[in-house]
Amino acid sequence: MSPDSRPLIDPGRILRETFVRHVDVHRETTSTNDVAVQWAMSSRLAAPTLVLAERQTAGRGRGAHRWWSGPGALTASLVLEPRKCELLLERWPRISLATAVAVYDVIAERAPGARLGIKWPNDVQCDGRKICGILVEVPNISARLPRRVVMGIGLNVNNSWRHAPSELADSGTSLCDVTGAEHNLEDVLVALISRLERRLEQLATLDPALPEAWRTLCVLRERRIEVEIGPRTIQGVCAGIDGDGALLVGTDKGVERVFGGIVKPLA
Ligand code: BTN
Repeated sequence: MSPDSRPLIDPGRILRETFVRHVDVHRETTSTNDVAVQWAMSSRLAAPTLVLAERQTAGRGRGAHRWWSGPGALTASLVLEPRKCELLLERWPRISLATAVAVYDVIAERAPGARLGIKWPNDVQCDGRKICGILVEVPNISARLPRRVVMGIGLNVNNSWRHAPSELADSGTSLCDVTGAEHNLEDVLVALISRLERRLEQLATLDPALPEAWRTLCVLRERRIEVEIGPRTIQGVCAGIDGDGALLVGTDKGVERVFGGIVKPLA
């Protein structure tokens, strides 16, 4: 195998060093979440399964958003069977937040001193710019199979934001831009899965350290925000994130707990 055709990530190492049981690596695919959803529907799934791609042709974000990632980005989706977690559908923000905290752990180790935070429910930011997006999906699978969840993670590692499309120029950043150095993608991935396993365990055991972390990291606290919740829009001042992962919005009518929606800071 020539050095160019060797995958950037060795599946054997992922299997040896993490709780992942199966790795599905793609040079190119539409979206790792699409592939992971197919795995989630299969009775042959060995969970957790990790789907990785060096390039996505149709990477997806929340809602109708697309996900841009140049070469050197980490684009991965994990299919989990979270039997131990209390995985009520309306509580899905907690999975997204636990993942965001795990991503924070990994970035904080590599970029000490960087101003990191979580923008509820699925973004990790550095200096107000997005460095990671998370897309949690609960596929509609046969009742014969255990409940499964897909967690898509797009972490900007060695894809310098200097090469991002101009319309995204001010919104994102990457680990290599923040630290001024490239990072070993395989090391970052192994660390991320290990951190994720630990944070999901905290979610399953209701360890207060986890909500404490997302409370501290919330970048929206005390800011005026607008939240689109389906056809409804509310405005107010963010009072943080509670233990269930709900965003707290102080409105004229009192504090509203929001479990899903698109948030926009106002001013
Ligand atoms: C968002 O910010 O709205 C979520 C972005 C999630 C992007 C990741 S990249 C890996 C996985 N595959 C996708 O198509 N999306 C997620």
